[in-house]
Amino acid sequence: MLDYLVNRSRAKTISIHPVSASGVKKWLSKQRAAVKNWAAVNDFAGKPGQICLVPSADGHLDSVLVGTGPGPWSWAGLPARLRTGRYAIAAELDPPAAQDAAMGWALGCYEFTRYRKPRRKFASLIWPDGADRGRVARLVHGIALARDLITTPAGDLGPADLAEAAKTLARKHRARCTTIVGDALIEKKYPAIHAVGRAAAQAPRLIDLRWGNTRHKKLTLVGKGVCFDTGGLHLKPASGIQLMKKDMGGAAMVLGLAHAIMDAKLPVRLRVLIPAVENSVAGNAFHPLDVLQTRKGKTVEVGNTDAEGRLILSDALAEADSENPDLIVDVATLTGAARVALGTSLPALFSSDDAVAEAILAAGNEVDDQLWRMPLHEPYRRYLDSHVADLNNISESRYGGAITAALFLREFVSAKTPWVHIDTMGWNSDSKPGRPKGGEAFALRAMYRMCEQRYGR
Ligand code: BES
Ligand code: MN
Ligand code: ZN
Repeated sequence: MLDYLVNRSRAKTISIHPVSASGVKKWLSKQRAAVKNWAAVNDFAGKPGQICLVPSADGHLDSVLVGTGPGPWSWAGLPARLRTGRYAIAAELDPPAAQDAAMGWALGCYEFTRYRKPRRKFASLIWPDGADRGRVARLVHGIALARDLITTPAGDLGPADLAEAAKTLARKHRARCTTIVGDALIEKKYPAIHAVGRAAAQAPRLIDLRWGNTRHKKLTLVGKGVCFDTGGLHLKPASGIQLMKKDMGGAAMVLGLAHAIMDAKLPVRLRVLIPAVENSVAGNAFHPLDVLQTRKGKTVEVGNTDAEGRLILSDALAEADSENPDLIVDVATLTGAARVALGTSLPALFSSDDAVAEAILAAGNEVDDQLWRMPLHEPYRRYLDSHVADLNNISESRYGGAITAALFLREFVSAKTPWVHIDTMGWNSDSKPGRPKGGEAFALRAMYRMCEQRYGR
């Protein structure tokens, strides 16, 4: 992907003119008649991502017009649409816009190539002046890592493979990465992770990555790592089970984000906790109405084995909380209800801390990677009451499922710890330029921007 961002050289380039919808009239008024007329015949209005190829008098490609918009995506259609060759942006962009252009270009060259050769070559862009190349590269690599992990099918990405991916990342950044596997989860007091994952062929585990100076503020990322979610004994129907290789989307996202944070050497003490399991079906699977022990000591009645994400996260969140970090962020493909509420491409954000929540929403708006805040609505807490245990893992109400799931998680974090919960789809349901159908790291750029602001030097 970064291969298609190249250094300026003596080789010939074709100019790309970025034009905004609001500035298109003025811009065209200063161009020669051929450009003006050609833009008009082609209805070029500078809409974000709109592309217009301008021919020379003898019918070769003279230049390219592209409609600009917020964030990287308006650039992402170009590398596939243009013939291979070298292109250069013929305008001065401010540094954030230059970075968006480079990032959009690189992501426009993303392809999932684990099982087949790249299907095409792309056009190359001369690195735009003012772009922080390191920043572009670390975000693009973080996003690509997350996408690749999510799109990889469960047959090739079980809990052990997810742990390997975390260890590979740790080696790259000289981080420490340990795992607690199988029955050791019982000894080390992670009973819920063990209960959910014990029926699978690959043993359940807790992945624990640590990096950075212990004197810095502690940021702990927690990612739901359900490598496949059959629903357990409350087995999902065929339509519901189909895409459940993506149920480790939260884990993939936090690994991609961790890559960016470590690559930037942000002054934080980073910890990544991933409970990695497959929610499977076998004779030793946990049952409906089993009562599980949890790390925090609260008992949980299993109203539904398909509400497994919150169970494994409860143990990981309790551990995260135990060292009083500056901030805990968990990311999870937790509920279908969040998707009903907000659709597939807008993650839900819940937080006990208004300041952090606002900061993340603002960062998301700034970089065009939006989230939408939903409430930890207190009156719904009673729906999680159980007749036999401290909590039920499902709500007795059919409504407000994303909220009750978030309220369940809140039970495992102390009120004084700033905590953010992101409920995400982790998957592009259709293809857009730079965002092909498949795994997606929603909110990664927003989260990274917030981290820069909160922890930046
Ligand atoms: N992984 C699913 C949630 C999910 C499903 C996310 C589809 C995105 C798309 C989760 O483990 C689950 O099954 N949740 C249940 C909870 C219910 C049993 C309370 C759900 O959302 O139906
Ligand atoms: Mn489930
Ligand atoms: Zn799940």
